[in-house]
Amino acid sequence: MATKIIIGDSLTELPKFEDNSIDCILTSPPFKDEDVKGDYWGFYDTIFNEMERITSKVLIIIHSATKMNSIIQKYPPKRTLVWGKGMVKYSWRYNPIFIYQKSDEYKVNKFIWSDTFGIEPIQGRNKAHVYQDPELLYYTILKMFKGIETVLDPFAGSGTTGRACRKLGIDCTLIDHNHEYEKLIMDNSMKTMPPLDQYGDV
Ligand SMILES: C[S@@+](CC[C@H](N)C(=O)[O-])C[C@H]1O[C@@H](n2cnc3c(N)ncnc32)[C@H](O)[C@@H]1O
Repeated sequence: MATKIIIGDSLTELPKFEDNSIDCILTSPPFKDEDVKGDYWGFYDTIFNEMERITSKVLIIIHSATKMNSIIQKYPPKRTLVWGKGMVKYSWRYNPIFIYQKSDEYKVNKFIWSDTFGIEPIQGRNKAHVYQDPELLYYTILKMFKGIETVLDPFAGSGTTGRACRKLGIDCTLIDHNHEYEKLIMDNSMKTMPPLDQYGDV
């Protein structure tokens, strides 16, 4: 099992990957218009087409409820799952998770398949990165798919995908353009997740 970290812009790094060269892309790209250069949908179109080209089995995109309708219309997924985040600042929030099937080899583990996840977000001072997601979510999503041996996250943030992959013994490549996150990604993705006893392993 190997973890590779690339500090660079995914708009220039993704074209370097060959077609169908990675089993699964699991990522949470920038959600907000102000977090990308230029037009949001121009950016999203480029990264979506690149990610679909590179993925051989499953492309999994965790996005925001605010852009859900546009994404379903412009890039219809095979399925949309829901991450229910519980109480966040006086309201109940969720994030949609879009699943794109690339080949007939795509297989799900029917015993643990979930359409809705109830997993606490990381809040306040516990966050190492402003958009850090809980690794239990990423770990559970990856476990639902069979036969995944290589994963890419082109918007790695704090390295949550790397940490979940490490727990599962999956080779993982992480890309982020922010140099400040290099050590964070390295530390996070090299750590093993704590035991999941409090939830019961999935
Ligand atoms: C929503 S956050 C990902 C959070 C991550 N899932 C976690 O749990 O920590 C999106 C990340 O994409 C990175 N990013 C934005 N545009 C990028 C680009 N063009 N190339 C590479 N990384 C980019 C940002 O620096 C940010 O860390």
